[in-house]
Amino acid sequence: MVGTHKRTFLVTGGSGFIGSSFVLQSVMSGHARCVNLDKLTYAGNPLNLEALADHPDYTFFRGDLGDRDLTNGIFRDFQPDAVVNFAAESHVDRSIHDPGVFIGTNVVGTWNLLDETLRYWERLDGERREGFRFLHVSTDEVYGSLGPQDPPFHEGTPYDPSSPYSASKAAADHLVRACHRTYGLPVLITNCSNNYGPRQFPEKLIPLTILNAFQGKPLPLYGDGLNVRDWLYVEDHCAALRTVLERGRVGHTYNIGGRCERTNLDTVTTLCRLMDELFPESPHRPHESLMAFVKDRPGHDRRYAVDCSKIREELGWTPSESFESGLRKTILWYRANGPWVKSVQSGAYRRWIERHYGFH
Ligand code: NAD
Ligand code: TYD
Repeated sequence: MVGTHKRTFLVTGGSGFIGSSFVLQSVMSGHARCVNLDKLTYAGNPLNLEALADHPDYTFFRGDLGDRDLTNGIFRDFQPDAVVNFAAESHVDRSIHDPGVFIGTNVVGTWNLLDETLRYWERLDGERREGFRFLHVSTDEVYGSLGPQDPPFHEGTPYDPSSPYSASKAAADHLVRACHRTYGLPVLITNCSNNYGPRQFPEKLIPLTILNAFQGKPLPLYGDGLNVRDWLYVEDHCAALRTVLERGRVGHTYNIGGRCERTNLDTVTTLCRLMDELFPESPHRPHESLMAFVKDRPGHDRRYAVDCSKIREELGWTPSESFESGLRKTILWYRANGPWVKSVQSGAYRRWIERHYGFH
C-alpha cells in the first residue's frame, strides 16, 4: 500500500474473535482508522470493542456485509483504503446443523460486498486506486484433510473442503480470486490455521475446554481425540494480516500457521496441566479427570498443517507466541473476564450446548 496518511479500513465482522483483535491493535497502535460493519450474530459481542467506544478512529455499524445500501453508504462516507473481510459464520459443527446461513453470509454476503467494493474501487483514481486492497481472511480448512505423512498445505494445494463451513469459505475464496482475474480488483487472500486466544466464543475447542474446566463440567473430545490441528495465537494471526496488507503481492494467497501441530488429546491434556498449575486450589483437580470421549463429528477432517514458508520468506513474518505461553495468557484472560463470559453464556448458548452435546 502506498502513501503515508493514516489509512481507513472497512472491517467486516470486527466484533468477533479475530476481527476484534485486529481492530483493537490497528486503532490502539494509531496504525489505522477502522469502520466496523458487524451484524452482531451470536458470535459478535459489543463488549469485545468496548474499549474503543469513544475513540475518534473507530466507528461501528450494525448490519449485514451483504446489505448493499449500507456498504455503498460506508464507501461513500468513509472512502476506505482497504476492506478487511472477517465476517463469516465460522463454526463447523453449526454448519452441519444449519448450512443455509453459511451459504447466505459466507458466499452470497461476500459476493455482495465484493461487487460493491468493485464499484467503489473503479471510481478511485491515481494513488488511491493503486494503493487500495481487499483482504479476504480465510481458512486452511478449504484444503481438506491431510494423512499422517502428507506434507503441510501450501498455497498451491488443491481445494478439497469437507464441511459446509469449509465449502462456503472455499466458494468465497474463488469469488475473491475471480474478481482479481476478471476485473483487476487488488485482492489478497490469507488461509490461516486454527486460532486461539482472548475473546473466542466458547463453542470452539480451547475456550470450551477452559470454561468447562472452571466449572467442573465434562471436557468433550470427539472420536479418538487424535485429530490434529495447527494452532496459532490470535495476535500472531493479526500481525500476519497487517504484514500481508502492507506488503503482500496483489492477487496472491498467503498461508498462515503456527507450525504447532497437536492432537486434540494433547491440546486438552496441556490445558488441564496448565490449569492444575495455575489454580492449585481448584476442587476440579486433576482437570484431566473431566475429559470425556464423545461421538465423532461427521466428516471430521483428520489433520491440518500449514506450510507458511511463503509469508516467512517473502514478508518476514513468523509467530512470536509459543503454544504454552499463548495458552497461559488465554486461560488467565478467561479467568479475569467473568462479565464477558457471563454475557456470552446466555440462554441461546446453553441451548446450543444441550442440543449438540446433550448436557448442560
Ligand atoms: P467469529 O465467529 O468469532 O466472528 C464472526 C463475526 O462476523 C461476528 O462478529 C459476527 O457477528 C459477524 N458476522 C456474521 N455474519 C455476519 C454478516 N452476515 N454480516 C456482518 N457480520 C457478520 O469468527 P472468527 O473466529 O473471528 O473468524 C473470523 C474470520 O476468520 C472468518 O472469516 C473465519 O472463517 C476466519 N478464520 C477463522 C479461524 C479461527 O480459528 N477462528 C481460522 C482461520 C480463518
Ligand atoms: P474447533 O475449535 O471447532 O475448530 P475446527 O473444527 O474449525 O478445527 O475444533 C478443533 C478440533 O477439536 C476439531 O478437531 C474438533 C475438536 N473438538 C472436540 O474434540 N471437542 C469439542 O467439543 C469441539 C468443539 C471440538
